[in-house]
Amino acid sequence: MTLDAINLGIIGGGVMAEAIASRFLAAKIYPSSTVLVSEPQSQRRVFWQQQYGVQVTSDNQTVIKTASIILLAVKPQILDQVLAQLDLSSLISSQPLIISILAGTTIEKLESVFVECPVIRVMPNTPATVGAGMSAIASGEKVNSIHTKTTKKIFQAVGQVVEVPESMMDAVTGLSGSGPAYVALMIEALADGGVAVGLPRAIALQLAIQTVLGTATLLRESGLHPAELKDRVSSPGGTTIAGVAALEKAGFRAAAIEAVKASYNRSQELGK
Ligand SMILES: NC(=O)c1ccc[n+]([C@@H]2O[C@H](COP(=O)([O-])OP(=O)(O)OC[C@H]3O[C@@H](n4cnc5c(N)ncnc54)[C@H](OP(=O)(O)O)[C@@H]3O)[C@@H](O)[C@H]2O)c1
Repeated sequence: MTLDAINLGIIGGGVMAEAIASRFLAAKIYPSSTVLVSEPQSQRRVFWQQQYGVQVTSDNQTVIKTASIILLAVKPQILDQVLAQLDLSSLISSQPLIISILAGTTIEKLESVFVECPVIRVMPNTPATVGAGMSAIASGEKVNSIHTKTTKKIFQAVGQVVEVPESMMDAVTGLSGSGPAYVALMIEALADGGVAVGLPRAIALQLAIQTVLGTATLLRESGLHPAELKDRVSSPGGTTIAGVAALEKAGFRAAAIEAVKASYNRSQELGK
């Protein structure tokens, strides 16, 4: 291992770490030989090495000692256990950029542990695993424009990136973090509706998925306001306005708003 050449060290080689790394490696943002993944499971380490050609270790301290950017990607509930086993004193002089994707773990907490290091907190979402993610990034006090640019470059490899103050992270969780579940529920319900009016299940699901994907793509690419699109497809006395009226009667809009608020509230509760 040529450890002096490590750019990016990943602590926790799980699902989200792989989603991100697979894409930034494919985009050649970092050469695989300069990426070091620390992961306890030996099978998983072999997989990382064979699949992506990165360097691997079972020792998180090796990442701490070598990487100029450290991506924290363990489950939040084991962070304290991971930190307890580390000697972080060398970071005071090396000051690597710490990027954390841990849900609910605050910048304040990370800054108190990674003293003198710039800290960026990122909230990605599950579609990142197919390169269609939405990530929000929030910066700590020691972060400069180069750190932000670096982090954006990494997360743009798995979708879109917005910058928000950390105070908005619970709101981000309520919308894009939890959102894939709301949309999945809607797709399932649309497919059920299709089955209820006579479509075979597989066709109903295909229609529902493609309709959601197509509508989202159209809105993104045309810049149309959703209300404008709805108006354009609702002809007087037609089929679509009949469906829209049924959704309004059932409180669809209010339900979506309440879903975001409920997730936001829960995220705030969990962060206390
Ligand atoms: N998945 C998402 O959609 C999503 C969205 C937003 C944020 N996140 C955040 O992303 C983080 C990772 O989530 P995930 O879904 O990728 O979970 P995951 O697949 O369980 O990944 C965590 C990885 O950390 C490894 N690990 C466990 N103990 C370790 C230790 N002491 N040192 C180093 N690595 C260790 C695990 O190995 P073992 O399997 O051997 O335990 C596993 O490979 C979480 O903090 C989560 O909040 C995830």
